[in-house]
Amino acid sequence: MPETNTAAAAQTLLKTLTGIEAAPTWSAPGRVNLIGEHTDYNDGFVLPFAIQHRTHAAVATRNDGLIRVASTFDERPVEVALTQLNELFRHRREEIAEWARYPLGVAWTLLKAAGVDASTVTGVDLAFSSNVPVGAGLSSSAAIEGATASALAETWGINLDRVALAQVGRAAENDAVGAPTGIMDQMATMLGRTDAAIFLDCRTLDAAVVDLGFAGAGLELLVIDTGVKHSHATGGYGERRTSCERGAAVMGVAALRDLTVSDLPRAKTLMDDITFRRVRHVVTENQRVLDTVRALREVGPDAIGELLVASHVSMRDDFEISVPELDRAVDAALAAGAIGARMTGGGFGGAAIALVARADVETISSAVTDAFAEAGFAAPTTFTVSPSAGANKNP
Ligand code: GLA
Repeated sequence: MPETNTAAAAQTLLKTLTGIEAAPTWSAPGRVNLIGEHTDYNDGFVLPFAIQHRTHAAVATRNDGLIRVASTFDERPVEVALTQLNELFRHRREEIAEWARYPLGVAWTLLKAAGVDASTVTGVDLAFSSNVPVGAGLSSSAAIEGATASALAETWGINLDRVALAQVGRAAENDAVGAPTGIMDQMATMLGRTDAAIFLDCRTLDAAVVDLGFAGAGLELLVIDTGVKHSHATGGYGERRTSCERGAAVMGVAALRDLTVSDLPRAKTLMDDITFRRVRHVVTENQRVLDTVRALREVGPDAIGELLVASHVSMRDDFEISVPELDRAVDAALAAGAIGARMTGGGFGGAAIALVARADVETISSAVTDAFAEAGFAAPTTFTVSPSAGANKNP
């Protein structure tokens, strides 16, 4: 759905709920991670950028202390007394529709972070509409968290900066939804910049803007959504996280961020093969993020192709979070002339990205689509993304 229509769709839904016309809207983007996967919860480095796909929230206040949320994906509103949020999320979160745990979770964690009593803020209606593909590894969840956090902070007069709002979003994802994710997605959605990526140190939360220069170099970033759905609240994601913590403990460091490539030979002698390979992915991936930032700053985007490919190979063979569709997307894009390609996001499904010359977008997209058909996979969805601004109130 085009951008202006997404904002209007949120307003229209709010109108059907409340009768209010043209309510104010806030929005926040999805993200693509250029490089740095499963490094965030290891206190390491990441290099994501916000994309042009956004989630919009139209907002109206109400005077009965309820928070009510509805979405164009599921128009049945979910409503809860603000004063009940704490008890609900602590003891009865399964009673809340799964999608609604994200915005209601943000309301809960925002009040906690600001130290504000739920009985002192106004009730609200929030209506959402989004054009961020869901389950594609493009952080539709961080987008709804970012839109909600920005909207509620302003509506409730809570003065938290963007980093604090990112932390609110992450807390909602961890504590209200139950997905043990890191901070990358929420930082990308809050701090995104047009034409640039965010180089983030996930230990200190220091963020630097790194120019990507795709447009000037005649390049496009192609997303290949495999259509294979994933969830980080179950299974593999949490297991990988546990392996990383085990590896750090064996090495006697606070987090894998504290190791470098030169520590790997010793690590190999101290742990089982699977844990070692998980550790090797994180340690080498951190180095690849640093190398990518240097290459972008000193040479330009043409120089990062091999790093993207090495990242994919490491996720496929060492971290073991790829799936056949992602591998096929990467291989087909590279064979058709992409400068670099890798899966992006948490893995087990979702999307791959390919850095391609603008003139090659069509041929590489069709080569990937053909390769999927040959393998008997459902057709992927391909589109280009551009680095975009972070969460904001819409004009
Ligand atoms: C998901 C999580 C992030 C990060 C990535 C993997 O997107 O939400 O915190 O761990 O996976 O890099």
